[in-house]
Amino acid sequence: VSRVIPVETFDLVIFGGTGDLARRKILPALFRRFQAGQMPEESRIIGAARSEMGTKEFRAFVGEAIGEFIPAEEAPAKAVENFLRHISYVAVDARGTDGWSDLSAQVRQDVIQAFYFSVAPALFGDLAERLHEHGIAGPESRIVVEKPFGRDLESAHALNATLAAHFDEHQIYRIDHYLGKETVQNLMAVRFGNILFEPLWNAQYVDHVQITVAETVGVEGRGAYYDLSGAMRDMVQNHMMQLLCLIAMEPPSQFEPDAVRDEKLKVIRALDPVAPAEIVRGQYKAGNGRPSYVEGVENPDSRTESFIAMRVDIANWRWKGTPFYLRTGKRLKSRMSEIVVTFREPPHSIFGEEAGKSANVLVIRLQPDEGITLRVTIKEPGPGGMRLVDVPLDMTFAEALGPDADDIPDAYERLIMDVIRGNQTLFMRGDEVEAAWAWTDPIIAAWSDKGDRPLPYETGSTGPEDALMLLHRDGRRWREIE
Ligand code: BG6
Repeated sequence: VSRVIPVETFDLVIFGGTGDLARRKILPALFRRFQAGQMPEESRIIGAARSEMGTKEFRAFVGEAIGEFIPAEEAPAKAVENFLRHISYVAVDARGTDGWSDLSAQVRQDVIQAFYFSVAPALFGDLAERLHEHGIAGPESRIVVEKPFGRDLESAHALNATLAAHFDEHQIYRIDHYLGKETVQNLMAVRFGNILFEPLWNAQYVDHVQITVAETVGVEGRGAYYDLSGAMRDMVQNHMMQLLCLIAMEPPSQFEPDAVRDEKLKVIRALDPVAPAEIVRGQYKAGNGRPSYVEGVENPDSRTESFIAMRVDIANWRWKGTPFYLRTGKRLKSRMSEIVVTFREPPHSIFGEEAGKSANVLVIRLQPDEGITLRVTIKEPGPGGMRLVDVPLDMTFAEALGPDADDIPDAYERLIMDVIRGNQTLFMRGDEVEAAWAWTDPIIAAWSDKGDRPLPYETGSTGPEDALMLLHRDGRRWREIE
């Protein structure tokens, strides 16, 4: 039975309200929560940006965003109209004085206040200062910030310091939208809600772990940002690191923000440095009528990677000897994100070599077709003697949960409501982000110093051949991207 957790009345100000993220993610997510009945009647959403426009125009912009990103049958005209009544707009100048008294007049002090900084990080400090100068934000206001949270340890540290000058850590919500994905939360439910897995969840029983986030899109219109980041900064430092943490962390004593984040931090701090030989970087070529990476970023000599595969080792008692292989890339064969935990083979086969070998595999699929599959070994049916086969014990949400599976909120819906509820469990703490950069920086420095070029790969492939070698070398192979 699906349940909607009630939230209190709020005023949510979206700085960068006319931007791409607001249009694609934030505003459609808010509409869906409104439709689900989770947005209290008196709540307001205030778009704030530099553009001179009025509430009427902004409402039209929001209406269009809903039209574009939500299927028509889920957005009846009447519902959209009702939603738009909650929306207003204020033109503000983050670096000046214009608009701030208007904003101050709009934001109520007796309801929950959240400020979404959907703007370039260079503006975080200005926004934080203005909000306080004009008495808009108080000690319980929440601010939401997006990645990129810095591009290295130094810049992330500086950003944290800027925010800390105005807000306490309990007010800061650093979004990593992967943490809001339903299956990612399910990963925790499966690990800590069952007795079956946890006793086996260590190097003694787990052979290796694979985390794949494959995309079919290229850099599209984001070339300017992406070329300065690459897959390592764009995906590994944050999303993949968070997934790795949730798999590798010790059981927190409670499902509470700091209990969970303390455990994740310990994992990041225990990561071994990664040698260049454990990394394969790639860059997609032109294909299927679409431009090559370098054409998309307009730098014919770009050495930025759009694909990365790497072996990561965790130096602690639980995981020493179990490698984690990470792989992510754009313009690959299909869009697929999954985590694969491959257990070791039984120590001895009582059935003899000819029965075949088998190892249990737990596949946690984030997208598409969210679900969890445990592959177990059984006897091949029939009179053929004792031969072993692998069969899936399947938990696709759609099958197991029926129509409720359709109620799975998108990551942004979940996370924005968590902000209103004041729950930081699925948000990154400042020290986690810094620790992740501290691990990432030397890896990036090693290839930049040497002027390494990523290997070209075909659009629609699984990345450069060398990525396969990374596992073959260790006597393993990647699960198919499909
Ligand atoms: C973003 C990255 O954080 O995540 C993008 O900047 C990437 O490059 C995206 O495409 C992937 O998110 P999702 O939810 O589509 O898997």
